[in-house]
Amino acid sequence: MSPDELKPLVRTIPDFPQPGILFRDITTLIGHGAGFAHSVRHLADRAQAAGAEAVAGMEARGFIFGAAVAARLALPFVPVRKPGKLPVPTLGIDYALEYGQDRLEIDPGAVSPGQRVVIIDDLIATGGTALAATALLRQAGARVDHALFVIDLPDLGGAARLADAGVTVAALMA
Ligand code: PRP
Ligand code: ADE
Repeated sequence: MSPDELKPLVRTIPDFPQPGILFRDITTLIGHGAGFAHSVRHLADRAQAAGAEAVAGMEARGFIFGAAVAARLALPFVPVRKPGKLPVPTLGIDYALEYGQDRLEIDPGAVSPGQRVVIIDDLIATGGTALAATALLRQAGARVDHALFVIDLPDLGGAARLADAGVTVAALMA
């Protein structure tokens, strides 16, 4: 399936989780076997072309696609976690979301110096989550030049913010 064929598998729910937010829900995409498989294939092709040596995904929806891509390419998966989940001393960063505030943490030992880590998430909106993950991974010594998403919401400016931080963004659909 092409990205154009995948797009109708994502459903849009108005006013979730807050009034005024048009929530793009991937539940229906991953609930379609071929749709999920082809989404992962497209992301994996791009991660491979970007020279990925590891894949990082952000909790929780980034785990769904990131881990699947890493396994498909037989690459390490780096979980970028919500606070208080990792059982070791972490690197952490607070960040703003389209609909709130949160914190991400990583195990600094999960990447090696200079390792080319490609970030994968379901969606980029303001880019706050992906910028926070980029900052953490770079702090741990990784090289972060590429981030891949199933969905880009370009009106929210996230891809442009990542470009300013030296990260090339690609998405399967807008
Ligand atoms: C969603 C989505 C991205 C982020 C995008 O995650 O999965 O990670 O928001 O928004 P941004 O570009 O404005 O940062 P959310 O924090 O809602 O968590 P979830 O994956 O646990 O649902
Ligand atoms: N994360 C941030 N903004 C979002 C949106 N509009 N839909 C789904 N996930 C999101």
